Amino acid sequence: MAKVEYDLKTYICQHMSAEIGTDIQKAAELLIEGKVVGIPTETVYGLAANALNTDAVADIFRIKNRPDFDPLIVHIADISQVELYASLFHEKAVKLAEAFWPGPLTLVLPKRNNIPFSVTSGLDTVGLRIPRHSLTLELLKQLPFPLAAPSANPFGYISPTIAQHVADQLGELIPYILDGGPCTVGVESTIVGFDKSFNPVIYRKGMITLNMIERVVGKTQVFTHSQSNPQAPGMLTSHYAPRTPLKIISSNDNTNNFSNRTGFLGFDAYHPLIPQNNQILLSPSGDIFEAARNLYASLRILDKLGLDVIYCSLIIGIPGAEALNDRLRRASV
Ligand code: TXA
Ligand code: MG
Repeated sequence: MAKVEYDLKTYICQHMSAEIGTDIQKAAELLIEGKVVGIPTETVYGLAANALNTDAVADIFRIKNRPDFDPLIVHIADISQVELYASLFHEKAVKLAEAFWPGPLTLVLPKRNNIPFSVTSGLDTVGLRIPRHSLTLELLKQLPFPLAAPSANPFGYISPTIAQHVADQLGELIPYILDGGPCTVGVESTIVGFDKSFNPVIYRKGMITLNMIERVVGKTQVFTHSQSNPQAPGMLTSHYAPRTPLKIISSNDNTNNFSNRTGFLGFDAYHPLIPQNNQILLSPSGDIFEAARNLYASLRILDKLGLDVIYCSLIIGIPGAEALNDRLRRASV
């Protein structure tokens, strides 16, 4: 009987679309069984599993079609848990954690042995973060283990910012998506690691900016991209991309051949030479936080229009635009 039930569960998991709901208990039970579950965070939705269970971690990589050299972020509930998974929580890291957690910041610290190398892609460091989302914090508090969770999108595609985005692409591969509504930040966490002298290095830009970090821990380096360097994971230049080619143009560019199959993703102003039906503005009032919240959903909508090309312009002269410009660059061809 148990076997039949098990097979049925497996079948349901593989052949029906994920249930979307707000049942923390159900999410917890599935995660304890070793299943992979969609979870909300303030940045983007995550594809979560028990970080200490190597089979569950392997399932995350399989479901996302993610290369094994790209390590996962480990999510915890409380700052007191850092020392369970990191062997060194030095002063600058503590300061950053106290300033920005729960929130869109990942700290890369030396790992303890209980974090499997499959989570960290063989690195002896682990990326840790406390997300700022009430449902997921409650879930993490109920679990006896931390959650490894990359963004819940197929590798290389746009990150999801509502539960339905996760269901659209990975729904047939996971049993449950915890629905926490639209993400309030909208782009992935800022990733900060440290050099040998414990000086901070930004590996990935986010809405916690260089300025905000330097105010807490002083001089900080920004790591620049490389094509595929396992020592600098998370730095892949081509990422977060729609299927339709996205191209960056200067905002006053009129040398291109625009047609009715041309799209435009604008910050606060429409492009005068492109049909307005094919355009989306990230924030008509020029609010960078609203623009960040809208970025990925807007790219998804434009991607569905079946256009030949989507143009966009970098956001110039607006404080806090660095993460958006980084994602536009990485999504573009
Ligand atoms: O906001 C976020 O960080 C979201 C939510 C779900 O928390 N997660 C996310 O995960 O963006 P993902 O897997 O899409 O990106 C994580 C990045 C990876 O590109 C990985 O290379 C980098 O974090 N990373 C993880 N562990 C690392 C480590 N030990 N050293 C350097 N980079 C690391
Ligand atoms: Mg991702």
